[in-house]
Amino acid sequence: MQEVVEHYSHGALEDSILQALDHSGKNLKKLKPQDLSAIDEFHLRGRMATTELAEEIALMPGTKVLDIGCGIGGASRHLASEFGCFVQGIDLTEEYCSVARSLTALTDLEKQISYFHGDALDLPFEDNSFDVVWTQHASMNISDKGQMLKEAYRVLKPGGYMALYDILSNSEKELHYPVPWAMSAAQSFLVTGGKLHTLLEHAGFRLHSWKDCSGQALEWFEGVLMRIQEEGRPQLGYHLLLGDRFSEMAANQLKNLKENRIMVVQAVALRPSSS
Ligand SMILES: C[S@@+](CC[C@H](N)C(=O)[O-])C[C@H]1O[C@@H](n2cnc3c(N)ncnc32)[C@H](O)[C@@H]1O
Repeated sequence: MQEVVEHYSHGALEDSILQALDHSGKNLKKLKPQDLSAIDEFHLRGRMATTELAEEIALMPGTKVLDIGCGIGGASRHLASEFGCFVQGIDLTEEYCSVARSLTALTDLEKQISYFHGDALDLPFEDNSFDVVWTQHASMNISDKGQMLKEAYRVLKPGGYMALYDILSNSEKELHYPVPWAMSAAQSFLVTGGKLHTLLEHAGFRLHSWKDCSGQALEWFEGVLMRIQEEGRPQLGYHLLLGDRFSEMAANQLKNLKENRIMVVQAVALRPSSS
């Protein structure tokens, strides 16, 4: 677990984001959540994926959402600003929680969002607390997915949705490393779609919808890399999160997608009302 925290910890992330925003001409006193989307939606297909997942579930003003592995808070700010949700985010990486809080304050959304430093395997929340449990690109770092889903189910209200957007394994073939979520296989715990389906059912969920987004993810990622090739790295981008090995990780991500070693899935599961 410490390895995962070390993988994501940067040391001076907030300063480098604020500097990049400043250099790209953003007014920090009037920052909007969408000004951050080139960095704070730390998953394939960025904000588009967040918007699509949100459309799959019934979000309304006041809907209580838990974002597991919230990172620096892109989805939480999107759900709060676009849908009026109240969001609690939890993340293992303390620095990400701290950056998430600062960016949320700068976008004036602190009344709707709070962040907790903690582990998805031991959620510090009461049973039946949330209308929606949300997670994007976090379970790849979690080996005990059964426990993660058990905790998600426990804190979700009966009748509530679990919304997932994750990278899964697609074949027996080893991945090319490093990848954006792991330097080596020691920090990466991908399961197949079949296995995830079984784990969801074992936790008590009923599958509501399932969408393979791998083709769209490949197309989107090729576009991101092509823009970097043509125009250079943008001020604000994933390279700020991933550091020196960004290019290598990006090249491997592309190869893993092209060679069908990974797949990208959006899934929504229901905690049935009578269980
Ligand atoms: C690739 S980032 C995705 C962040 C965010 N969900 C997003 O899409 O922008 C993966 C995140 O999962 C978090 N994470 C990994 N294992 C975790 C665990 N056991 N409990 C909570 N967070 C975890 C990491 O700290 C990291 O912030």
